[in-house]
Amino acid sequence: MFELIQADLTTLAVDAIVNAANAALSGGGGVDGAIHQAAGPELLAACRPFGRRPPGEAVLTPGFRLPARWVIHAVGPVWDGGDQGEDGLLARAYASSFARAREAGARSIAFPAISTGAYRFPAERAARIALTAMLAEEANFDRVVACLFDERALELYRKNLAQLRGSSPSHRTTDSL
Ligand code: AR6
Repeated sequence: MFELIQADLTTLAVDAIVNAANAALSGGGGVDGAIHQAAGPELLAACRPFGRRPPGEAVLTPGFRLPARWVIHAVGPVWDGGDQGEDGLLARAYASSFARAREAGARSIAFPAISTGAYRFPAERAARIALTAMLAEEANFDRVVACLFDERALELYRKNLAQLRGSSPSHRTTDSL
């Protein structure tokens, strides 16, 4: 099942939440800062053995004091105009996160809008990439959750979800028959 919600990701009682991490996995601002603050200092210690990870990769740690059992630290691309492979790297960050979740046996997973804050990825372009990646995995989990922090992002996801679902072959109307 796929769900759109407006919430603070750190409050969600799902198997895994995905962090919008930086390449050093060193914590920072935004959702990354909130996750490290809520999980406690053990989270940073658990990230250290992974060293630096390139954009598109994701690693899994325990969630420590979070309600979520695991944190999947995904490194999104920094937006640099759109010609530097940003779309593919963002799609890979979602795909890598799903791969880590499957390996761990997670049945529920929640994502923030990776790269759309400090990394400046245009919100609508990122939403379409994120939704495409999440809908592709929906059937493999009990819950796939897109967790948006503000009303504007939620509305953007709602609109693009309707468009993507409307254009999928299984939902096409009879005019193509
Ligand atoms: N719950 C859900 N979403 C949130 C929360 C929250 N608690 N807080 C912010 N957001 P960003 P990035 C949304 O900047 O662009 C960090 O410093 C926010 O509204 O967190 O991938 C890292 O260390 C936005 O839509 O991540 C990296 O250096 C989305 O989360 C860098 O920022 C992502 O914004 C990563 O930048």
